[in-house]
Amino acid sequence: MKHLISMSDLTQEEIIALLDVATDLKEKRAKGKVTDLLKNKSIGMIFEKSSTRTRVSFEVAMNDLGGHALYLNPRDMQLGRGETIGDTAKVLSRYLYCIVARVYSHDTVTELALHSDVPVINALSDREHPCQILADLMTIREYKNRLKGLKFAWVGDGNNVCNSAILGCTLVGMEVAVACPPGYEPYPEIVKHAKRLGGKVTVTNSPAEAAKNADILYTDVWVSMGDEDERDKRLTDLAPYQINTKLVNQAKHDVIVMHCLPAHRGEEISAEVMDGPHSVVFDQAENRLHSQKALLLKLMAC
Ligand code: CP
Ligand code: NVA
Repeated sequence: MKHLISMSDLTQEEIIALLDVATDLKEKRAKGKVTDLLKNKSIGMIFEKSSTRTRVSFEVAMNDLGGHALYLNPRDMQLGRGETIGDTAKVLSRYLYCIVARVYSHDTVTELALHSDVPVINALSDREHPCQILADLMTIREYKNRLKGLKFAWVGDGNNVCNSAILGCTLVGMEVAVACPPGYEPYPEIVKHAKRLGGKVTVTNSPAEAAKNADILYTDVWVSMGDEDERDKRLTDLAPYQINTKLVNQAKHDVIVMHCLPAHRGEEISAEVMDGPHSVVFDQAENRLHSQKALLLKLMAC
């Protein structure tokens, strides 16, 4: 039994195998072919925070595969009245084949995994968002026909999505350059871990330096869920880190621009770039569905 808590829970071979299955499932869905490998199986999805893509894509994934997904709001569960995470995990393991959890604190998802007898998937914590990066690697491969050797540039807040991107891109042999203001760096232990894996990872304060020769330019919101109190400061500090046409012009001519969404046009990305020819953001969103299907099949051993 295996969980997906961090992108580093996967090996390069496992990531590539997941992307291959996801691509196959995407083609099958386009042809209207159904596969009900998860028939009669239910998963539970605990969401402490809002979600559009993650919730809907997991729910549709389970439905397409013949299974069922339950949306669980912690405020409606006994968790909200003090039942422990450990007891909750043990009880849910008796009903469900997998637990998906979107949480504020990364410790909550690790605690769930510690006590669960079924696989636990991190659907975003303050530290990582591995499901997003699986879909993103699938999208990059669709556009570039390869992963190894590409330059991935992250511009903006070195947040949870950035942490998973550093690990995921390193695992598949990409170079990673992060540009962020002082104080907004990705987790140092994640950068260290990626370097230990043999990754070429640089962290700079210069968006132009990161964007130079980049095959991929990636950004995310400046105010993540949980950071709302710091909104004004963040908008000021991160203002020079917008992905706009000027920055796109510093990258390779065929650069793809990525964003995990939701986006705020005029903040981390200009409207012109978000809705322009380099943007692949809606392919990323679609690929959440296909890559999570592959992940569910792998973790539920089908
Ligand atoms: N990208 C992403 O995880 O979107 P949601 O917050 O809508 O799930
Ligand atoms: N970094 C963002 C990602 C949303 C999908 C957040 O944590 O809110």
